[in-house]
Amino acid sequence: MTLAATLTWLVRYGHVVGGALWLGGYLVLAFLLIPTLAKGKSAPLERLTETTVRVLTYAGTATIFFGLLLVTRTRGFDRLFQGEWGGIIVACFVIALALLGIGDGALRPALRRVSTTRNVRPAQRLALLGFALSVVAVGLMTRALYVPT
Ligand code: HEM
Repeated sequence: MTLAATLTWLVRYGHVVGGALWLGGYLVLAFLLIPTLAKGKSAPLERLTETTVRVLTYAGTATIFFGLLLVTRTRGFDRLFQGEWGGIIVACFVIALALLGIGDGALRPALRRVSTTRNVRPAQRLALLGFALSVVAVGLMTRALYVPT
């Protein structure tokens, strides 16, 4: 394997691991942690939920960082605003920003409000939305590879 191919592989590896943790984090929150919070709160469960939301921020930042690097290692920024490939990358960039906003700007405060309102529904809806958007992003991104040059 050439040095250039090894670098591209490592960048792609970082990007996919970041994306997997991002999607997985939303999945665990939506289907395990938040439904368990609804049954009754405990300090360890609250800490685990907080840590998972923090992981979303780190995983998302890493996905975006490696994703932008991957653009330079694949078809390049020149192709960003033309054709299907560029459309997919721009759409996923928008989804990625929305996912960061949902995690940090909406889900975190919604989880904080659970202690006073005892209502987990808004937080669960947001986690489900994050999960659905990350599934869409994986679908679009895996298609990008097959767009004819
Ligand atoms: C800032 C946003 C993003 C950028 C700039 C970006 C960029 C890229 C690029 C350039 C590729 C390679 C396409 C090719 O080889 O032609 C790719 C692939 C991929 N991306 Fe993203 N991406 C972003 C967001 C995401 C998100 C949010 C996810 C998932 C949560 C994701 C998951 C993937 C996956 C699974 C692949 C396929 C890797 C493979 O099959 O080798 N990306 N991305």
